[in-house]
Amino acid sequence: MSVNATVVEPWTATLSQLEWPSNSRLLLLALINIPLISIVLNVLWQLLPRDKSQPPLVWHWIPFLGSAPAYGRDPVAFFRECRGKVRYGNVFSFILLGRRVTVTLGPQGNDFVLGGKHTQLAAEDVYSPLTTPIFGKDVVYDCPNEKLMEQKRFVKVSLTIEKFRAYVGMIEDEVRDYLNSDPAFRVWQLNDINEWGSFDVLKTFSEITILTASRTLQGREIRESLTKDYAQVYSDLDHGFTPLHWMVPGLPLPSYRRRDAAHAKMSSFYQSILRNRREHPEDNQEDDVMSSLMKQRYRDGTPIPDHEIAHILIALLMAGQHTSSSSLAWTMLHLADRPDIQEALYKEQIQHFGTPDGGLRDVTYEEIRELKVLDSVVRETLRLHPPIHSIMRKALTDIPVPATLGTPSEDKVFVVPKGDIVLASPLISQLDPAVWDNSETWEPARWYDEKGVAAQANRAYDEGQKVDFGFGLVSKGTISPYLPFGAGRHRCIGEQFAYLQISTVILALIRRMEFRLEGEFPQPDYSSMMVQPNPCKIHYRRRKFE
Ligand code: HEM
Repeated sequence: MSVNATVVEPWTATLSQLEWPSNSRLLLLALINIPLISIVLNVLWQLLPRDKSQPPLVWHWIPFLGSAPAYGRDPVAFFRECRGKVRYGNVFSFILLGRRVTVTLGPQGNDFVLGGKHTQLAAEDVYSPLTTPIFGKDVVYDCPNEKLMEQKRFVKVSLTIEKFRAYVGMIEDEVRDYLNSDPAFRVWQLNDINEWGSFDVLKTFSEITILTASRTLQGREIRESLTKDYAQVYSDLDHGFTPLHWMVPGLPLPSYRRRDAAHAKMSSFYQSILRNRREHPEDNQEDDVMSSLMKQRYRDGTPIPDHEIAHILIALLMAGQHTSSSSLAWTMLHLADRPDIQEALYKEQIQHFGTPDGGLRDVTYEEIRELKVLDSVVRETLRLHPPIHSIMRKALTDIPVPATLGTPSEDKVFVVPKGDIVLASPLISQLDPAVWDNSETWEPARWYDEKGVAAQANRAYDEGQKVDFGFGLVSKGTISPYLPFGAGRHRCIGEQFAYLQISTVILALIRRMEFRLEGEFPQPDYSSMMVQPNPCKIHYRRRKFE
């Protein structure tokens, strides 16, 4: 018999002889007392004198949960409320499901997080639990940062102006085919210029985004399979892209199992396409991202293994999907709410592409870039509705927060302790009334003025010091109050493509139809991974060509 058993047995025997309340009463007592005791201990812990070098901690009643409900419900309101408190200011920490998150707000705060050294601030330690089960092994956040930089360089080869020229026609084709076949556009299909129809904003733009992105970036085989066998697989993968799957990885729930099965199926599908392309090069003369990845090599000379090519392509599909589709949805909602801007967009098209018979001709990539109103509409939407509200990294060492970040009460230096998650929210600077006039109003005209605040912010973002993190020269741009595509080494590589995709879709829709909002302008839904509008509909009517 072991020592443990000799000690424990007499005790258990004694306990079993005592008169205990019934099991249910015991359970009830525990249910009431354990949470109460932990709340009391948590309150006492917060009242204890704190290490003054650490940022102030946002007061919270419930341990572990911390400020998760307030942050999850409306992060913008939560950050603003905290910033407004005398003790907090631009730097404060809060508890999010047992983790401490230190927030650094304002352009300097964005610079601190986005411009940080990757030996001090790691994105992969935060994002990997969400992305690796979806993208797959050995890519993006499941590999060292230097490797990610090389993978971004590989993809950028396919995101050139030459490729974009070909993409314009493909995107226009996809939008036209969608309008001609989707049941929500029956009124459009009937060719009646007097009747109004309506469509579901989230569904429509999610579908248009995946169809246009796969047609242009993913290649023929993927595009064809999306409307057939792989629609459900994609949907299962997509349902794994939620805050729950991120914050609580590995739960034994059906959505987790379906996500993993969908990843395995998608990965082997891409790899079968790769094998087929290699075995039959004569039938496969595609000029897409996959064919480009097949030709490239890492710096040490090794080709990119098939499973990595597959996973990079899945990552691109997912990275561009929710970001672009929510941006499209917000853009169209604002347009539906502002018939004057719709008319300005339509007139801009007539001015540039009008034909003698009253129609509109096809456009080129270079011509789209010249459209000032369209460009301003997209920029302004990304100012008010950048899809990513929180950009996070994990502190790998103790890191001093620069004094310039300041607090309302004192100008002191805090130290973010190793292990904290640090968080920047460019959205807060993009809505800051101290920077932007009528900061909450969607007003594309603010981008027309070359000397205005918006143009200056944009120059700070795109011009100035250039750095090569391993995927080509990019503007450092971390200090601008306008950062919809992030900045620094993790800056988005899909930016130019996203502009092209959003602009071309809007252009294709505005030249065919007029739009009106159905009901109130929808509020942002922060419960999904990207800030998208709550479910809503837009009315449309076929334009009468003059
Ligand atoms: C990174 C926004 C579209 C691929 C990012 C980041 C932001 C962003 C804010 C930085 C994240 C961070 O620092 O943690 C957007 C917006 C888009 C968009 C607003 C559309 C309106 C796309 C598209 C693609 C793409 C279409 C692919 C073709 C990527 C990749 C990264 C990235 C690969 C780099 C991740 C890294 O280095 O950590 N994006 N994105 N994005 N995005 Fe985008």
